[in-house]
Amino acid sequence: MMKFEYYNPTRLIFGAGSLERLGEVVSKYGKKALLVIGKGSVKKTGTFDRAVASLEKAGVKVVEFSGVEPNPRFTTVLKGAETAKKHGCDVVVALGGGSVMDASKVIAATVLYEGNPKDMFMRAGSGKMPRLPEKALPVVTVPTLAATGSEMNNGAVITIDDEDEPLKTFVIAEALYPRAAVVDPELTLTVPKNYTAYGVADIITHVTESYLNNTEETPIQDRFAEGVILTAIEYGPRAVENGQDLNARTQIQWASIVALNGWVQVGVNAPYPVHQIEHTISGLYDVPHGAGLAVINPAWMRFAAKYNPDRFVQFAQRIFGVPVEGRDKLEVAMEGIDRFEEFLRSIGCPTRLSELGIGEITEDMLYHWAEKTLEVLCDEEGRLPGVPPLSKEDIVEILKMAI
Ligand code: NZQ
Ligand code: ZN
Repeated sequence: MMKFEYYNPTRLIFGAGSLERLGEVVSKYGKKALLVIGKGSVKKTGTFDRAVASLEKAGVKVVEFSGVEPNPRFTTVLKGAETAKKHGCDVVVALGGGSVMDASKVIAATVLYEGNPKDMFMRAGSGKMPRLPEKALPVVTVPTLAATGSEMNNGAVITIDDEDEPLKTFVIAEALYPRAAVVDPELTLTVPKNYTAYGVADIITHVTESYLNNTEETPIQDRFAEGVILTAIEYGPRAVENGQDLNARTQIQWASIVALNGWVQVGVNAPYPVHQIEHTISGLYDVPHGAGLAVINPAWMRFAAKYNPDRFVQFAQRIFGVPVEGRDKLEVAMEGIDRFEEFLRSIGCPTRLSELGIGEITEDMLYHWAEKTLEVLCDEEGRLPGVPPLSKEDIVEILKMAI
């Protein structure tokens, strides 16, 4: 039976034109903001200047920290924290996609963290539990891309890049909840077609990770998840087709927030096996996260359907209207997965590892990826949590199905 506790303290200010309110919102939390941005898209679009103007008008001083890369690196976060300390910033404003928002959260926590900030990240394979940050500078998020939902959740995904090989891992801590999210869908009008499509794949995967791993009776959560998926399937292609379609952008952005602010996951078994496998790949090869998910999710689904067929039948029936009467469950499940994969392709997502620009993929590489995935997250028996829990060999099998 459902039993849960839910908490999300992030104030959400949503709607076209909201950027104008940034200064007013930030001034409640600090007087000197570290304004974190990516590689320059916000400068090209004029969003940066508008954000600075709004902050300054409200009396908030601005210190710029630019250059956060997609799949943000630990060493970049350290530089950001140094900049914040050097200038005495008392609030962090994240203006960008998931990478900028994740980096900002960890910068905000690093400034106040005692000890090595690397210890805050999950590395279950080492047997050591993370030492979570208990405090952080206040963070205000301003997403410019609809995808991760990072604007209103307490997670951050960072690639550790100062060791032999990059390892993409995560931290989830209460201190990382942004104080406020200023979400202005107009800022996403310039996102190119490919990243718009990857965002749609990400949004859908955030809810399939709970929907398809769940074994409880959770009718309301199921319908929330289906609402997110159906909305993404309806409005995603419109946003890809015409980037200037503000209504489509708005619906997709709301879907991205709902998908991962914890609400859909309430009372539901929600491990993230597809995310964990994908993170290994985007950490090693700098693949866009949503593109990697579009490859791994259908392969994982085909592997997992036989262990939890009823959920997959429900997905096929309710999302794609696949007929079920008198049919074998697995056949229905597979038809639903085929339809999902076709949808991803139709909006321009890759669905095979060979399309990710990694080059030749050998069996040794697949084993290595599986080991790295389990280094970040595993249960007591060394398996990746989910239904079913995945051994190293299972992960390799899924990856082979994705080639
Ligand atoms: O760096 P700039 O120049 O800003 O360009 C970015 C980047 O190249 C560009 N972009 C962003 N907004 C734009 C824009 N281009 C034009 N117009 C705009 N308005 O888009 C590119 C990708 O940006 P990025 O932030 O990397 O994308 P996304 O939002 O998909 O974030 C992906 C990262 O978030 C992590 C992923 O693993 C990945 O590292 N995730 C974080 C989660 C969380 N915190 O809850 C959950 C997710 O599952 C995910 O794992
Ligand atoms: Zn994701």
